[in-house]
Amino acid sequence: MPLANMRDLLSQAKEKGCAVGAFSVSSLDMIGGVIAAAEEKNAPVILQVAQCRLPSSPLHLIGPAMLSAAKAACVPVAVHLDHGLTLPCIRDALEMGFTSVMIDGSSLPMEENIALTRQVMALASPFHAAVEAEIGRVGKTESGQDAPAQCASPEDAILFAKESHVDALAVAIGNAHGVYSGAPRLHFDILEEIRKYCAVPLVLHGGTGISEEDFRRCIALGMHKINIATATFQAVCHAAQGASDYFAMSGSMTRAAKEVALRHIDIFNSAVLL
Ligand code: 13P
Repeated sequence: MPLANMRDLLSQAKEKGCAVGAFSVSSLDMIGGVIAAAEEKNAPVILQVAQCRLPSSPLHLIGPAMLSAAKAACVPVAVHLDHGLTLPCIRDALEMGFTSVMIDGSSLPMEENIALTRQVMALASPFHAAVEAEIGRVGKTESGQDAPAQCASPEDAILFAKESHVDALAVAIGNAHGVYSGAPRLHFDILEEIRKYCAVPLVLHGGTGISEEDFRRCIALGMHKINIATATFQAVCHAAQGASDYFAMSGSMTRAAKEVALRHIDIFNSAVLL
């Protein structure tokens, strides 16, 4: 099946009131597990890798594997660069054939974040690739460093969407990457305000540890891409322990990644898209 574009998947998800799972992958086991889950559920998915993970999963190795698995899948699969931080890395992903990229300018002042996002939009345009940006600060960085969480303001979301014309916007509403210390407290009032004035599909980062009920509320309030990373990494790591040989371990890791994806595809209800 041809590669899917995240822009199309998210606009369909918005229309149908569901979310597409964006699963972070770092190995062939994880790629295989996520694709097997998507095929079993007959649901589209997004395969993604974050720039900060490239030292252990180099783009020139993991990228072609993701793209090849996506093309061979019998369901639509988009291939996405998560938390892109530098223009050369984003350009490499686009040239390789990724169908979307994220530029994470969330640590920059608003005007600089908008200007950088526009630069990435211009880079992505000849490839017809979609672009995701982020405003506010998600607690903890994708690589696990502590970062003070700061909710996005509805005013900033409206300004950002208007000035950047970005395809998907990650908004921080109290969510955090990695393992939450205590139960996550998402600010649905802020999300509701953003949703009222912002038509762009929104993205929820830090999916690991969010309750089913909160996922459903987020989706109802406009989050149509939901990122899951830590849950998969933990499950795969756990599955690798105690295996008798490499191939048994690899099989267990694939099954663990598949289980995580199956569970989230059900909660996100993305099978309604096919
Ligand atoms: P988790 O690691 O909390 O699942 O977050 C994933 C994410 O947002 C990747 O960008």
